[in-house]
Amino acid sequence: MENFLAYNPTKLHFGKDVTDTLGKAIEKFGKRVLLVYGGGSIKKNGIYDKMISQLKSIDAGIFEYHGIKPNPVYEDVDAAAKLGRDNNVDVILAVGGGSVIDSAKIISITIPVENSSWDFYNGKAEPKSAIPLISVLTIAATGTEMNPYAVLQNNKTKEKHGWGNKLLFNKHSFLDPQFTFSVPRDQTAYGIVDLIAHCLEAYFGGGEATLSDRFVFSIINEAIEYGQKLLNNPENYELRAKIMYAATAALNGLTLNGRKSGDWGVHSIGHELSLLYDIPHGASLSIAYPAWMKYFSNIIPERIMELGKNVFNTDTTEKTISAFESFFKSLDCPVRCPEIGIIEDKKSEIIKNMTANNVSGANHKMTEKDHIKIVELLF
Ligand code: NZQ
Ligand code: ZN
Repeated sequence: MENFLAYNPTKLHFGKDVTDTLGKAIEKFGKRVLLVYGGGSIKKNGIYDKMISQLKSIDAGIFEYHGIKPNPVYEDVDAAAKLGRDNNVDVILAVGGGSVIDSAKIISITIPVENSSWDFYNGKAEPKSAIPLISVLTIAATGTEMNPYAVLQNNKTKEKHGWGNKLLFNKHSFLDPQFTFSVPRDQTAYGIVDLIAHCLEAYFGGGEATLSDRFVFSIINEAIEYGQKLLNNPENYELRAKIMYAATAALNGLTLNGRKSGDWGVHSIGHELSLLYDIPHGASLSIAYPAWMKYFSNIIPERIMELGKNVFNTDTTEKTISAFESFFKSLDCPVRCPEIGIIEDKKSEIIKNMTANNVSGANHKMTEKDHIKIVELLF
């Protein structure tokens, strides 16, 4: 087992009606609030009204930035940071999924500096401080609610990267599974794939950490046992709660302790597909993971077999990879690029961008020759 530092300062409020105390949590940081949200789902499902009533209960001054896109771009972060800076906000309230919360994390460190938010991603700026951030999660998927990472996209330079800093932890995250009842079927499925992928990125990371491996198996087993049931019963509280907690546990440090690092090679392949063809994050992973495992099955057969034994009771690499594919298909997620509209002609474009962005895992390295072979397996 590797040495590790476990640090997670986020207060997680989980369960029915937890946002009834949201106003009190916000008030401790001040009354000038930057409210950040996405394309409007929170207006349709009533969450927006609940947020406004909490903010009114503390006489908050509200400055709204909305329209954060799935696969968020740094320009929105810069514009929201300007709004927050010009109005001297005390606290940020992010209401939405990974795209909104990741954007809010970077808004929180961009407000105190003069730089563009992308400067944190290309190494031109270091964060100095962060405006306190409180999040209300509305979709179970990324784990951003309890981790220090944020993923942003730059369409000009054709890059989409994750980046981490301890200043990015939320002060509070509120998770009410009822808020996820309205998540559409496809997005629910993508969230299940994403949480499984986070477990796998940890599992295929460096070092030996048997207890962390067992956490990985348990979380994946939870997703497999309840994922399909949830798709058939989208307003079942218990099922929504199980998947929501699984998604948080999949990327809040628990599965990484004792390892050198996670791998993250599959995420970096997936980010290329999302960046180039604007496909949802989870869909990029249901395509990329089977391909990656096939490619690496000769190099790490024991590791893949151990995973299969513990989650699908399989005894070969082929059966394990095929079981993952079948599970993703059972959720109606794509497992090959053409299923989501990315045609064969795009192969060379994908390879070119992968190589330009040095797509690789931290543990299992990839270079251009690997990109070429892996891209074949995506189709
Ligand atoms: O924008 P709105 O209108 O809110 O609609 C969203 C969006 O269209 C909708 N939605 C969210 N909650 C809903 C809802 N619709 C109805 N009812 C609700 N309750 O769902 C769509 C997807 O939302 P998004 O936030 O994009 O999804 P997700 O949470 O999967 O976030 C994806 C982003 O997170 C990054 C991804 O790369 C991607 O950019 N990731 C962040 C990570 C992190 N910070 O740790 C790790 C992940 O691996 C991931 O890379
Ligand atoms: Zn992910």
